[in-house]
Amino acid sequence: MLTRLLIASAAVSIATASLLARAPVPQHKPWQPGLGEYMVGIQRHHAALFFAGKAGNWELASFELKELEEGFGDAQEFQPLHEKVDVKSLLESILPPVMKPLHESIEKGDKQLFSRGFEALTSACNGCHQAANVPFLDIVDPTAEPTVNQRYEKR
Ligand code: HEC
Repeated sequence: MLTRLLIASAAVSIATASLLARAPVPQHKPWQPGLGEYMVGIQRHHAALFFAGKAGNWELASFELKELEEGFGDAQEFQPLHEKVDVKSLLESILPPVMKPLHESIEKGDKQLFSRGFEALTSACNGCHQAANVPFLDIVDPTAEPTVNQRYEKR
């Protein structure tokens, strides 16, 4: 029985090997994240930024804001047009006016200014979602920390 099984499995291996040898080498396109994938990262940084600012952890807030901007930068570069939506132009017009005061609030370490700046950022998210035909993507202040294994307060 065992011998027969071994012979059978060897035959299968040989058959597979010869098939593989003849199969054309598959050509994979390099993986390119879609706009939604960039947005998931942006969503995470938006939430982390909220808790860093709330805790007055300005080093972390500054880092998270930079990461968020990098996400938008990548989305703009790699997905400038998404389903006829001019992502590049929308980002260029919507973001700069909200990013500047938010950066300033972090540099000053001013929680009240930060809170106003964060509200403006969230409105910018939703303003763009409305302009981009996805108004049902309704961004709000996070109700819980985005992770369970990171401290947002300064130690
Ligand atoms: C270009 C303007 C624009 C701005 C600004 C913008 N978004 Fe989006 N966002 C989109 C579009 C368009 C989609 C739909 C993408 C798709 O069809 O996959 C989207 C999708 C999303 C999604 C759904 C992702 C998914 O696949 O589940 C989330 C979450 C999101 N955005 C969060 C945010 C947050 C948070 C901000 C602000 C910090 C923001 N977005 C700012 C245009 C924008």
